[in-house]
Amino acid sequence: MTLLPRLLAAYRARGYEIASGLNPAHWDGFDLAPFTWLVKDGQSVTNGLGIALGEVIFLEHLLAAWPARRILVIGNSFGWSALALGLAAPHGARLVALDAGLDPFSEEGLSLTEDMAHELGLHVRAVKGFSPQAVPALMAEHFPDGLDLVFVDGLHTVEQVEKDWRAVAPFLARPGAVLFHDVRNCGLEPGMAAVGAAAGQMPRLLEATASGMAILAHDLPPEAEAVLDAYSLSEGARAAVEAGLRWRRNRRWERLKRSIRKRWPGRDQKAAG
Ligand SMILES: C[S@@+](CC[C@H](N)C(=O)[O-])C[C@H]1O[C@@H](n2cnc3c(N)ncnc32)[C@H](O)[C@@H]1O
Repeated sequence: MTLLPRLLAAYRARGYEIASGLNPAHWDGFDLAPFTWLVKDGQSVTNGLGIALGEVIFLEHLLAAWPARRILVIGNSFGWSALALGLAAPHGARLVALDAGLDPFSEEGLSLTEDMAHELGLHVRAVKGFSPQAVPALMAEHFPDGLDLVFVDGLHTVEQVEKDWRAVAPFLARPGAVLFHDVRNCGLEPGMAAVGAAAGQMPRLLEATASGMAILAHDLPPEAEAVLDAYSLSEGARAAVEAGLRWRRNRRWERLKRSIRKRWPGRDQKAAG
């Protein structure tokens, strides 16, 4: 059974309404529509929106194929992804979520996350601190035996994602993985290139995730690699989708030219030029 009913029920029991997984095409192209909005008394309380519904399902698929037991989340906000990971992980897994408390409500999100985790029977700690500075002490206290999975969803800058990776890389076990949120959405590809150059292996882009995640994974079992394949795009498939997009753009342009020609005969050459 999927983790979604337990995750949704935990927030609803505290009076939150949830919007997640909406299609931007149905919302006037609104790029934040797929992500998770927690709403209380009609007001969004998640300035740092949670991962999208489909990304929760991706995590569930990944952890079903590779049951990571020691998990660090950088960027907790209201605990949505931390609790999703906690529910997806095997019984007895340990998870720590770190948040600097920068976004409005993110500080109260820490105690909320711990309280809800307790109710759900999960070993989740939510602690205040800045990555990368807080990572070494956090590791010594909570994960002296190393980490299996790190989910990076804190400050979304090119420099910061490399810093986050450098902070956790020495503690990563084999098999192990660092998963980066919002790579495509926030233009973090140069950060991934820097991580790839330092690691000697490029993070893999997961195009079928709503934010365009990327993962740097080492020695995962074949079942987990198959999950990553399902969320990736081969070169041939990419070319076909790009051709479809070009056809769609071209058709729109042709329609626009026809309509200009109809309304103002003789002006379409000007518009086309
Ligand atoms: C996009 S939100 C995280 C959303 C969360 N992962 C989820 O799915 O519910 C980003 C969070 O990162 C925190 N943050 C920003 N910079 C940080 C840093 N250097 N270290 C730790 N947390 C940081 C912010 O306070 C904010 O709560």
